[in-house]
Amino acid sequence: MPVDLGFHWSMLNDYDRNAAYRAAIRRTVPDRVVYDLGAGVGPMSYYALTAGARRVYGFEIDRDALPYLRRLAAEFSAFTVCHADVVRAALPRDAPDVVICEMWSAWLTDWPMVKALARVRKRAPHAHIIPARGHHLVQLVRARHRAGVPLRVTPGTEAPVINESPATLDVSLPALACVSDFRSEVGPVDATVTLTPLVTGLVDAVRLFSYEEVWPGYLLPRAGTRGDELLRWITPTRVREGRRVRLRVQYAWGKAPLVWLE
Ligand SMILES: C[S@@+](CC[C@H](N)C(=O)[O-])C[C@H]1O[C@@H](n2cnc3c(N)ncnc32)[C@H](O)[C@@H]1O
Repeated sequence: MPVDLGFHWSMLNDYDRNAAYRAAIRRTVPDRVVYDLGAGVGPMSYYALTAGARRVYGFEIDRDALPYLRRLAAEFSAFTVCHADVVRAALPRDAPDVVICEMWSAWLTDWPMVKALARVRKRAPHAHIIPARGHHLVQLVRARHRAGVPLRVTPGTEAPVINESPATLDVSLPALACVSDFRSEVGPVDATVTLTPLVTGLVDAVRLFSYEEVWPGYLLPRAGTRGDELLRWITPTRVREGRRVRLRVQYAWGKAPLVWLE
């Protein structure tokens, strides 16, 4: 049975992401204890080990990634592989000085990044966290497909869109809905965002995407790095050019965000 390297291959080739994380890691880890939450096939752990971390714990739930982490452990005696669900499993005795948590996805919906960080922060309230923040945006759109069928998608339905040609026609500019600052507790979101339609017509969906601030003041570019988005259908509504509308967003991190026009 072939092992699926899947999305790890794309992440290994995500040059800007890797360069930014490597720079952030290089300046913080020398001689420190590091937790790499969601280590994958180990790029962040490798950056920490080669930057002189005293000890690196790589937590990964996916067994397909384990052979890669075990090879890293054979090469670096300062590396410990933890095949574990980082939200539930016992944590090592050694508390971290630095936590790298690259469990990123649009609006952090794919992996329990906020939960994992909250748990580790209880153990090490002053640990340095990489990345620093996430910026989460919404945009009114009209969803489109090119199948030539009169398909109506049920409001509340969601689709991930990853590096595809535009699955939407933009109706408003994107707007910031919330910021998750990983350096402190990240609470649930209840935000109302005012959006101004650029055109008159039908809106049937909201495009949700995020910017990753790897260290304070450095945002990863979206073009050329992971470009994942979520498309969330809402009740179809006619909007008028220039007439502002209010979009409500409620979100407990990790569950599907709820969005609707008020
Ligand atoms: C976005 S990938 C990043 C992988 C790696 N850090 C990198 O930079 O290439 C997120 C990783 O988190 C892992 N993961 C998700 N949930 C986890 C959990 N609860 N405990 C441990 N690892 C988890 C996934 O299996 C995946 O490998």
